[in-house]
Amino acid sequence: MTALAIETHGLRKRFGEKLAVADLSLTLKRGEVFGFLGPNGAGKTTSLKMLLGLIEPTAGSGTLLGRPIGDRVTRGRVGFLPEHFRFQDWLTGRELLRFHGKLFGLRGRALEARADQLLARVDLLDAADRPINGYSKGMTQRVGLAQALLNEPDIVFLDEPTSGLDPLGRLLVRDLIRELRDGGTSVFLNSHLLGEVEATCDRVVFVKQGRVVHELDMAVRTHGLEVELRVDGVPERLLAEHGTLLAHADGVVRLRVADEEALPRLAEALVRSGTRLYGMTAHRRSLEETFLAVMGEDQRPG
Ligand SMILES: Nc1ncnc2c1ncn2[C@@H]1O[C@H](COP(=O)(O)OP(=O)(O)O)[C@@H](O)[C@H]1O
Ligand SMILES: [Mg+2]
Repeated sequence: MTALAIETHGLRKRFGEKLAVADLSLTLKRGEVFGFLGPNGAGKTTSLKMLLGLIEPTAGSGTLLGRPIGDRVTRGRVGFLPEHFRFQDWLTGRELLRFHGKLFGLRGRALEARADQLLARVDLLDAADRPINGYSKGMTQRVGLAQALLNEPDIVFLDEPTSGLDPLGRLLVRDLIRELRDGGTSVFLNSHLLGEVEATCDRVVFVKQGRVVHELDMAVRTHGLEVELRVDGVPERLLAEHGTLLAHADGVVRLRVADEEALPRLAEALVRSGTRLYGMTAHRRSLEETFLAVMGEDQRPG
């Protein structure tokens, strides 16, 4: 068994004149929760559909669970919650799970038990025998999530899974994603919601106009520490020795430093140089700040 859940080289998708995905090369390890983050229209859904073998790439190649993308055997090991989940909505929640469970080869008691377990997990036992077309958007999303987990997949693709959910529903999805990871399942999460990604992902890739523009390891948190200083006069040379000067105006300086150890060193150097230091605060860059820095203000997420 390969250690990689996904590996792609130069995947590209063109729809007529429109280049939806320019050049996608990425790897995803087994058991990793991977966030694919970008504004609407960045090519997230198109990328995911290529990985699932639902649309043919214009160029490039890749493997999913160690086999070429589109491979039939692999499909049985994959779960998928589409962005606009609208399957057979005349069925009840339970009937929908039975139907999709049968497609995965589940039968009899095993199928009933799995459906019950998932309905309980997504908090739909009470509504299980009502038709889905009477469900709220959040309930529809949750039954879709249950559907994606029927086959106990090795990798789950979730396309904007929380966009229709209230805060409780979002919490449920977060917990579920953590459970999946703890059980060794890989998760590929498409999202334009930074909070969701920040709360759940091990690694994040930012996409813009079909290209990966930035990659972030959430465990390492290499995106640094930002310091705001209030000083009289800006000793630029001295500051540059301690970090990267981001901005300064009216005696307020913003500087990026590598880690916390830089703070006392910086304070000492400032005082020694005769600079009067009126304030010093440090904070870790949030995912949103990183996103805006990488994407530009025009790409503010929804
Ligand atoms: N079937 C299609 N035909 C033509 N253009 C498409 C099609 N699917 C997606 N696109 C275009 O490709 C770009 C990327 O879309 P999509 O992958 O859905 O982005 P995202 O999921 O990041 O919002 C968009 O400009 C979209 O309009
Ligand atoms: Mg999309």
